[in-house]
Amino acid sequence: MPNLPPIAFIGGGNMASAMVAGLAAVPNRPKIIVSEPDSAKHAAVIAHGAVTTTDNLAALTIGSLVVLAIKPQMAAQVVPALAAGWRPHHLLVSILAGTSTRKLEGWLPPGARVVRAMPNTPLAIGLGMVGICRGSAATEADLATAESLFAPSGTVLKVTDESRMDAITAVSGSGPAYFFRFAEALVDAAMALGFSRDEAVLLVGRTGSGSWEYLLRSGFDAVRLRQQVTSPGGTTAAALAELEKADFTGIWTRALQAAERRGKELG
Ligand SMILES: NC(=O)c1ccc[n+]([C@@H]2O[C@H](COP(=O)([O-])OP(=O)(O)OC[C@H]3O[C@@H](n4cnc5c(N)ncnc54)[C@H](OP(=O)(O)O)[C@@H]3O)[C@@H](O)[C@H]2O)c1
Repeated sequence: MPNLPPIAFIGGGNMASAMVAGLAAVPNRPKIIVSEPDSAKHAAVIAHGAVTTTDNLAALTIGSLVVLAIKPQMAAQVVPALAAGWRPHHLLVSILAGTSTRKLEGWLPPGARVVRAMPNTPLAIGLGMVGICRGSAATEADLATAESLFAPSGTVLKVTDESRMDAITAVSGSGPAYFFRFAEALVDAAMALGFSRDEAVLLVGRTGSGSWEYLLRSGFDAVRLRQQVTSPGGTTAAALAELEKADFTGIWTRALQAAERRGKELG
């Protein structure tokens, strides 16, 4: 992995703070400046060795790797204003949901190098999943730089076709919400069997973390592990039959397709 150049974060909210915390632990940690209008948010990143500003153009004079971490609805106002300070050595890595590299390139001077990334919220604890792709002027070396940027806070999947970013958003960007919703449903269902909330959270939580670890250690052999638990005519079979009646795989296929479709509409 290449060493990282000085980094300027534009926006110092949740995602930026999590990335700064991850970067604080890397050897040869890069210089980091975070530009964030709300100075109440400065302390969180200063604690991880970053310097702060409220002036986006001042941040560009320090960072050559520019991480765009504002809300997508702010982009049309914030990115064109960066053009005044944009120089050929700058590389933009955008984590904005649904904002294409083409749109970002259009707001910056011709030839601006842009990489688009789609992280997810487990990035906050160093366990993110991040899809990345490059814009028209960015190089393979720029993609490698983006990989190094995200390595401390997650695992990276590179895609070559930017339209795949909507599918990545559907699977891993939105994905944590599916697991959280599943956890909510299981806890509610356990409470319906008479457990207190604390008991239900313990039973579901430990079963979830244990099963997940078992699945990973098996090399993701979900079918075999499921069959191991499911004796014919037994309790697990009774539960799984209910799920199949509701077309379990079909629900997930339709859910992910809906998310991908929505991503395309928003883009
Ligand atoms: N959270 C997720 O699951 C997730 C997943 C993938 C991608 N993303 C993307 O990550 C991006 C950041 O999300 P987040 O959850 O970190 O949002 P956030 O906490 O709201 O952070 C955005 C920050 O940008 C600041 N900001 C506003 N205007 C600015 C300006 N002109 N210059 C510099 N900074 C400015 C905001 O300050 P104020 O609060 O003072 O306005 C805020 O602190 C979003 O584009 C989102 O699409 C998020």
